[in-house]
Amino acid sequence: MKKQLLLFLALLLLPLGTINAQQAQSGNFIAGNKEFMLNGKPFIIRAGELHYSRIPKPYWDHRIKMAKAMGMNTVCIYLFWNFHEQEQGVFDFSGQKDVAEFVRLIQKNGMYCILRPGPYVCAEWDMGGLPWWLLKKKDLKVRTRSDEFFMDKVKTYLNEAGKQLAPLQIQNGGPIIMVQVENEYGTWGSDSKYMEIMRDNIRQAGFDKAQLLRCDWSSNFQRYKLDGAVNALNFGAGSNIDDQFRKFKEVNPTSPLMCGEYWTGWFDQWGRPHETRDVNSFIGSLKDMMDRKISFSLYMAHGGTSFGQWAGANAPAYAPTTSSYDYNAPIDEAGNPTDKFYAIRDLLKNYLQEGETLPEIPQNPEKTITIPAISFTQTANLFENLPAAKQSEIVQPMEFFDQGWGSIMYRKTIPACKYKQTLIIKDVHDWATVFINGKVIGKLDRRRSENTVEIPVLKAKARLDILVEGMGRVNYGEAIIDRKGITEKVLLSDGKKETELKNWTIYNLPVDYDFQNKAKFNAKSATGPAWYKAIFNLTETGYTYLNMSTWGKGMVWVNGYNLGRFWKIGPTQTLCVPGCFLKKGENEIIVLDIDKPTSTIIAGLDHAILDVIGKDDSKQPKAAKSLNLNGANPIVAGTLPSGSGWKAIDFDEPTTGRYFCFEALSAQDPNDPSTSIAEFEIIGEDGKAISSINWKVVFVDSEETVKAANGADKLFDIQESIIWQTKIGNKTKHPHQVVIDMGKEIKAKGFRVLPRSDKSNLGIVKDYRFYLEKNPFKF
Ligand code: GLA
Repeated sequence: MKKQLLLFLALLLLPLGTINAQQAQSGNFIAGNKEFMLNGKPFIIRAGELHYSRIPKPYWDHRIKMAKAMGMNTVCIYLFWNFHEQEQGVFDFSGQKDVAEFVRLIQKNGMYCILRPGPYVCAEWDMGGLPWWLLKKKDLKVRTRSDEFFMDKVKTYLNEAGKQLAPLQIQNGGPIIMVQVENEYGTWGSDSKYMEIMRDNIRQAGFDKAQLLRCDWSSNFQRYKLDGAVNALNFGAGSNIDDQFRKFKEVNPTSPLMCGEYWTGWFDQWGRPHETRDVNSFIGSLKDMMDRKISFSLYMAHGGTSFGQWAGANAPAYAPTTSSYDYNAPIDEAGNPTDKFYAIRDLLKNYLQEGETLPEIPQNPEKTITIPAISFTQTANLFENLPAAKQSEIVQPMEFFDQGWGSIMYRKTIPACKYKQTLIIKDVHDWATVFINGKVIGKLDRRRSENTVEIPVLKAKARLDILVEGMGRVNYGEAIIDRKGITEKVLLSDGKKETELKNWTIYNLPVDYDFQNKAKFNAKSATGPAWYKAIFNLTETGYTYLNMSTWGKGMVWVNGYNLGRFWKIGPTQTLCVPGCFLKKGENEIIVLDIDKPTSTIIAGLDHAILDVIGKDDSKQPKAAKSLNLNGANPIVAGTLPSGSGWKAIDFDEPTTGRYFCFEALSAQDPNDPSTSIAEFEIIGEDGKAISSINWKVVFVDSEETVKAANGADKLFDIQESIIWQTKIGNKTKHPHQVVIDMGKEIKAKGFRVLPRSDKSNLGIVKDYRFYLEKNPFKF
């Protein structure tokens, strides 16, 4: 009673305006019985994902308005830990990193916000949002409570996030209706306790009122439990909505339904075909959700650009993501509407809440411009502009030299030798050039697990240089502990004996503009890896796409802004320059090419080139033409049932082997000659899937790697919406065979197959044979 009286007196002392403003604005949002409730009324979330880090700040407001005009009532955002704590213990939430300002803009535009602070976010973002400096700890483990250091740093980060954003929860008068705990944890682990700690960390950081959310897939949401969070499911364009939610509804009969990420397109990976998702099948499933009153979030509404070094990578197999994050999303990289945008707007205008109207499509604050070809007359050779050297007895990755991103060079003198030797580098992360006395003798590409170079006869002692460029850190799956440079050791082999090379001179080559700008430029032509610099004049500014298609591999800085990575192998051949990075009058451009340009000019185009695969120096090893299964005995053969979801097959008894062959003999539709599989797992004796981190495709009779990115390695990429598919349109015939080397012998008790989950039945396997051998198959 006394307490209440004191509270009443305290309230009387508050200025009246404060109380009124607070009361007028604060609201409430909960996951109720089968529906979300906003301020006591049923609410269907129509969210679109935008990343403040991938959109220059001057355009934040425009992109939010675009999302609204497309029919969204909510904006979903990730918070990127490593964007804010680039140096351990130093947090930055200012300028481009002022996420609270982004959230306030969402509110100013009359929209709500779903906040996804991670700490792990995936998002094709370096290390899935985790800071690189965590990797300085040699035995680091992430996303687990078994690493106290990790757990401790997470807590500090979430508290900082809370200081910025907890005041913006809807109950405090802000637009944040839900806060997500972790991200798709079901794809990683099953430790409910870890998720409970993450939930409690979020609560303690100040998000103590907002409805909590978790997201997973229909195939793995049961891997862990988390009280107090509503569960959304993520899936791709064209999915069968009833299939996606069938199991979920059985297990959670009173939960509101939501697709936490409905993938509007997909991201591109270097050297693989450009990804697109068909508008019609995308819209079809969106309509299915609307008809069933299912809430959704479009991932991405607008992807934008992963500027600088921020693009991540997937594995296995190592596949770095391009800097363009256009994503084939409804709003393109420069913020303009696409066909998908208009199709979504057209659909959603029929599903608005009572009294809601769609606003006009806002005008893009930037026009798109072209820039006449810029020629480069100033160059600076990398070898003549090396930073201060460090000495190290052993080779080590860049993180142990306190370097986050960029390239690292390892140098040492090796003795004369009358015969050829082999240099073995364990392991290259991610792209290495090997030089003897400054001359290139080999290039190694992690995408192809390349790690040996032949050293020619050396008449005298020679200087060995290994220049290693780190590309994106893996942001998904087990390979996320992804240090850059050389991760383990360098060996020299004479064919009989391998000797570890020691005592190295190390050069750290960071991505910061200041470092590039220190290079001493001159008018000579470049030899080997080099910087190129030019000044160009503009009478007007606007969005433009730099055509990098005659350049080798590297990065570009315009007026000090790091635009991201280019690589001749494509599919992205342009770098997007937002108008706000340009100036009327003189502009500076610096290119670092660590490979070799064929022509040193760059023009600004009015469109992106996202779909041109270029020359790839690292060729896929020649595959055998046919597989010889004579004498091999399948350990199991049979018929897979039709329908969606994982299909598990047990062997008669546990069997040991290193190489397996899956042979599809027919499809569910007897007239269908093709095969497709979303995921394939080998089940160990403990009933758990064996890690696929070191798997390699040894043979496949047919795969689609030209018209779409549907190669056989998609069988074990742990991404269920991305499938292996035999060549589209070709007259391929059963049987279809794929052989995989698991890297070491394992004892298995069975396997599991996941068919595709979109509305198509094409290629879904019926009859099969499965072989497991200790020795390689014959070809
Ligand atoms: C998952 C992740 C996202 C993103 C998408 C693919 O759903 O949660 O962060 O990586 O895949 O774009």
